[in-house]
Amino acid sequence: MGRLLGIAVLSLALAAAGQQGTEAPTGFDNKSNGLVDDTTHQADQARFDDIETVKDGLGPLYNAQSCRECHQDPTSGGASQITELRVGHRGPDGRFRNPEIPIARGAEVISGRSLVNDRAICPSEAFPDTEIHERVPDSETIRTTRVSLNLLGDGFVEAVADETLVNLAREQCKTTGRRICGQVLYVPIVEAPGQTGVGRFGWKNQHASLLSFSGDAYLNEMGITSRLFPNEVTNRCNTAPEPNNTAGPDGLDDVDHFARFLRATKAPAPDKVLAETPKAKRGSELFDRIGCATCHARALTTAPAGTKINGGNFTIPEALGQKTLHPFSDFLLHDVGTGDGIVMAMEEHYGPNAYKVTWKSFSLKEYRSTTNKVRTAPLWGVRLRTRLMHDGASVTLRDAILRHRGEAIRVTQRFQRLSRSEQEAIVEFLQSQ
Ligand code: HEC
Ligand code: HEC
Repeated sequence: MGRLLGIAVLSLALAAAGQQGTEAPTGFDNKSNGLVDDTTHQADQARFDDIETVKDGLGPLYNAQSCRECHQDPTSGGASQITELRVGHRGPDGRFRNPEIPIARGAEVISGRSLVNDRAICPSEAFPDTEIHERVPDSETIRTTRVSLNLLGDGFVEAVADETLVNLAREQCKTTGRRICGQVLYVPIVEAPGQTGVGRFGWKNQHASLLSFSGDAYLNEMGITSRLFPNEVTNRCNTAPEPNNTAGPDGLDDVDHFARFLRATKAPAPDKVLAETPKAKRGSELFDRIGCATCHARALTTAPAGTKINGGNFTIPEALGQKTLHPFSDFLLHDVGTGDGIVMAMEEHYGPNAYKVTWKSFSLKEYRSTTNKVRTAPLWGVRLRTRLMHDGASVTLRDAILRHRGEAIRVTQRFQRLSRSEQEAIVEFLQSQ
């Protein structure tokens, strides 16, 4: 009786600290996590899978024809090996500058973004003499690729309260004697001009909202304009009316369907067979003991249902409220010695309002300090990835671990001091996630 009471008191205390929730559902079964019914979820997925053409507004500059083309492994919403090209240069003051990329034989210069699109819709039958492909000039000396990310389970990540991440950063800094201090970055919520949230999506934490990210990706990856990103990157060869996508009879446009699709996905499931082996269990303990979990945080709990997030634009529904997820990430920015030197581009990510409105808690200084920082890569589903780290340049887990320097140096050294079989146990553990 006394013991049961003890447990009850403990769980009350945990609940009060926002530490306790029911487990977020996991799986790769294309079924909803409960946010919508399965039929609605699969209809939303069909939008995500849909292939866009010139008639739909594809391009003029683009990277791929559907969200699924880059987010599909092992099913729609997963990651893939596809990378994107980002470039820029340093100005006379030493600070990062977005690239200036001439197109149309120099008649137009594309600016305001670090992304370089790999494809274009012309020259074509309609525009046989219009040359708009983006080619990197030699002057853009900072160059990197960034590999695609997993989106499954992102609805739970979006529903983690800002203050949970702020507290995590504070705790982490305190317990490591300021050696590991993740950076919190307040980023614009595109659908709520003036409002910001703690960034958690993208390699640079460029977004806090899945709706914002969907609008950004629709324009910058596919060239499809929407109410959130109404302007094309170039108007050459452009024939489809703007915005390319508008609301249907249900009042939702594609961007709303994408966001609802992502919010209703289940989180990546671990390999249950491998996770139960003694070696993986040992690896799991060592992962915590040597400090990997300081950044690759094991568990986070979402805010309760009814909480308003994204500048009041989204209310956390029952299916996403007070759920515990195991992303193995603190969703904070760190310098682990791998930074690519590129600061996120304001207009590219936040659209025409980027410089027009005053964003709450927004700091240009904070932005600039992210130059060489990367978000802690979430390790859920990492066993499915063949190209690791933001640039996709590491192809084994061991190589990815050994690349960690900067804030992670002591942890990497601890890893190196482990016996070979202990190191292998950590890798085995990662292979079960
Ligand atoms: C050409 C490939 C490509 C296409 C097409 C594409 N994406 Fe992505 N996506 C990426 C890459 C690469 C990243 C990582 C970007 C970064 O942070 O630099 C990413 C990141 C994301 C993220 C952040 C995930 C996280 O957890 O951090 C979301 C959300 C997303 N994409 C949604 C979409 C949606 C919705 C579409 C369709 C409108 C789409 N993407 C189309 C390549 C693509
Ligand atoms: C200081 C924070 C920090 C610590 C400590 C840390 N990591 Fe990381 N980890 C990161 C960041 C940031 C990235 C992304 C780096 C990049 O993409 O350039 C990352 C990336 C990874 C990746 C690549 C995942 C992918 O999807 O590409 C693996 C695997 C990984 N870490 C494992 C570990 C292990 C194992 C340890 C302990 C030995 C560890 N990390 C310690 C911050 C950390």
